Amino acid sequence: MSQPNAQNVRHLAFIMDGNGRWAQSRGMPREFGHKEGAKVFRRLAEYCSDIGIGCVTTYALSTENLKNRSRAELAALFILLKEYLKDAMVTAPKNDTQVKIIGDHSPLPADLREMIKTVERETSIYHKRLNIAVNYGGRDEIVRAVNRLIADGHTHITEEDIDSALDTGGCPPPDMIIRTGCEIRVSNFLLWQSAYSEYYFTDTLWPDLTEEEINRALDDFNSRHRRFGGA
Ligand code: FPP
Repeated sequence: MSQPNAQNVRHLAFIMDGNGRWAQSRGMPREFGHKEGAKVFRRLAEYCSDIGIGCVTTYALSTENLKNRSRAELAALFILLKEYLKDAMVTAPKNDTQVKIIGDHSPLPADLREMIKTVERETSIYHKRLNIAVNYGGRDEIVRAVNRLIADGHTHITEEDIDSALDTGGCPPPDMIIRTGCEIRVSNFLLWQSAYSEYYFTDTLWPDLTEEEINRALDDFNSRHRRFGGA
């Protein structure tokens, strides 16, 4: 395998697309794809941490997915998430990683909300960060952030205020966003934070994404000239 070069990447984000197609191409139900996708999520989140990336954000469920996916599919995703959160309580100290579920928790099942609260509290002392976006929408996140600032008494809001009031508050902006699954769009993900992110789109379906391809995406990132609006 090629060597990872992640030294310029403080925050890597993933749009994990393609579980459904991966399963259907094998004659299996979509839920089977999510199960495989969750295994890959666990493996690659750990890989990113091992190669020194301090913050990873993954898109597991959008606000639109929550409205439009079947009950069975959502139930399967919630089970996978609960299994992961349970395990994260054990692995967080070893990985030195705090886990945060970004997005609007209010419509999620009560037992899942309770687990999220516990995991976020218990892991908050660790230094690396893993954000999992669930019932997440970038527009919704900005609106919630601004409303929080207003409720806190702000009458004049700066960019820094919004940065810290977002669900990703405390994280640097994503250096690169990798989207699997053949689609070339942003899908309401990290709209504010991605102002100067580099994108890497791949036809690989999420369950087929490998460490090797992440290394290739990092090489691609390192070959780009980031100008941040400069010449
Ligand atoms: C979108 O593509 C993906 C999702 C709605 C779910 C992604 C979830 C995971 C990768 C598992 C997450 C698990 C944990 C524990 C965080 P799609 O699957 O709808 O695929 P399609 O575009 O091929 O239909």
